[in-house]
Amino acid sequence: MEGSFVNPYSSAAFSFFLSIIIAGATTSGSSYSAASTPTCDFPAIFNFGDSNSDTGGLSAAFGQAGPPAGETFFHHPAGRYSDGRLVIDFIAQELGLPYLSAFLDAIGSNFTHGANFATAGSTIRPQNTTLHQSGFSPISLNVQGYQFHDFLNRSQLVRSRGGVYEKLLPKPTSFAGALYTFDIGQNDLTAAYFLNMTTPQVVAVIPDVLSQFKAVVKAIHDQGGRHFWIHNTGPFGCLAYVLARVPTAQFDEAGCGVPFNRVARIFNRGLKKTVGQLRKELPLAAVTYVDVYKVKYELIRHAKLHGFNESIRACCGYGGEYNYSREIGCGEIEAKSCKDPSRYVNWDGVHYTEAGNKWIFDQIVGGRFSDPPLPLRMACYRKE
Ligand SMILES: *[C@@H]1O[C@H](CO)[C@@H](O)[C@H](O)[C@H]1NC(C)=O
Ligand SMILES: *[C@@H]1O[C@H](CO)[C@@H](O)[C@H](O)[C@H]1NC(C)=O
Ligand SMILES: *[C@@H]1O[C@H](CO)[C@@H](O)[C@H](O)[C@H]1NC(C)=O
Ligand SMILES: *[C@@H]1O[C@H](CO)[C@@H](O)[C@H](O)[C@H]1NC(C)=O
Ligand SMILES: *[C@@H]1O[C@H](CO)[C@@H](O)[C@H](O)[C@H]1NC(C)=O
Ligand SMILES: *[C@@H]1O[C@H](CO)[C@@H](O)[C@H](O)[C@H]1NC(C)=O
Repeated sequence: MEGSFVNPYSSAAFSFFLSIIIAGATTSGSSYSAASTPTCDFPAIFNFGDSNSDTGGLSAAFGQAGPPAGETFFHHPAGRYSDGRLVIDFIAQELGLPYLSAFLDAIGSNFTHGANFATAGSTIRPQNTTLHQSGFSPISLNVQGYQFHDFLNRSQLVRSRGGVYEKLLPKPTSFAGALYTFDIGQNDLTAAYFLNMTTPQVVAVIPDVLSQFKAVVKAIHDQGGRHFWIHNTGPFGCLAYVLARVPTAQFDEAGCGVPFNRVARIFNRGLKKTVGQLRKELPLAAVTYVDVYKVKYELIRHAKLHGFNESIRACCGYGGEYNYSREIGCGEIEAKSCKDPSRYVNWDGVHYTEAGNKWIFDQIVGGRFSDPPLPLRMACYRKE
């Protein structure tokens, strides 16, 4: 059953001598044996993405994601589209850093150890529809790039005033030392489907989406970013909101829509190529590609084996085959949370539960699904 889950990299990480260099450090070119290499000690995380990693951006700008969001861990809404923590929260925790404040959140934010530019509904390419019309965020990845540029410049200006500002904003050295994380692209694909494009039409937009992604990563590199951790896109053909909205007759053994997941995998093959180009073009950067698709698909396909009762059906929702309705979303009138969200992979038909996110994080943290196959704490190293 687990056979298909074996990752080609799984034994590669530490079983043999790996020649790696510290990306961006003056020691470029030195090689280390993996066993004696120190962990990276990232002073900060700067995150870019969509609802998979939004810790309060869309909520700050367009109104809170209301209850029951946040009920499991925070016990109140906490800007996340889930009952609790997201993969990015577990990443921060693993690196010994506080949960990330959203760049857009003016209230109570502390950016000493990073900032989160992600907003729910964000795409890589700017959309030609408003949030109200389509549900996609105007804070597309290029805008998140502008915000990062602004943050980098103004945080240093303001920090130099001293006092409380030194306790709210990152040190100048934190930008080169930081981990830059990305989880974005899914919404470019679903947005195209929701505009009634056919599958070949959706596939045809992928090269432009990837070239815009690459431009933003390069711009961050040009401003001093050196360590990049890039999630590929998940199997969105397993999400109720896609299945309820875009008709398909082809389902796989997990109950997921075949054409949607095929498009996700085409996107991911392109993304992996783009990451390869970035490594060539940015010789000082360490760029890690993480196969989150494989992990999420395994979780949904073998949900029971991994301790979950429901894979596609939403915990919080209303009606239909998937406990999901476009008209009555999680938190609205009848759409309440289920008794035990930890038994559900899916929270609201679109997003994962905290339990789902934790399971996903546990798979990726050690590097089994990464290229190069290094653990999260070693993601500052570049494989030569
Ligand atoms: C938005 O419209 C412009 C101009 O027609 C076009 O170049 C661009 O590709 C469109 N963007 C998307 C996401 O469809
Ligand atoms: C920030 O921007 C200002 C004006 O645009 C510029 O003069 C200054 O050098 C920039 N500072 C940094 C730290 O980039
Ligand atoms: C912001 O967070 C850092 C690290 O957790 C902490 O040291 C600092 O005191 C906080 N700043 C304020 C103003 O509370
Ligand atoms: C897509 O097609 C559906 C069904 O025909 C229609 O109701 C909807 O308005 C169309 N959406 C767009 C953006 O054209
Ligand atoms: C989940 O499944 C187990 C065993 O199959 C069952 O005992 C339990 O009641 C189920 N829990 C929920 C919340 O459905
Ligand atoms: C679906 O949503 C309702 C609330 O609308 C909830 O009570 C129920 O437990 C959910 N789950 C399932 C599998 O129906």
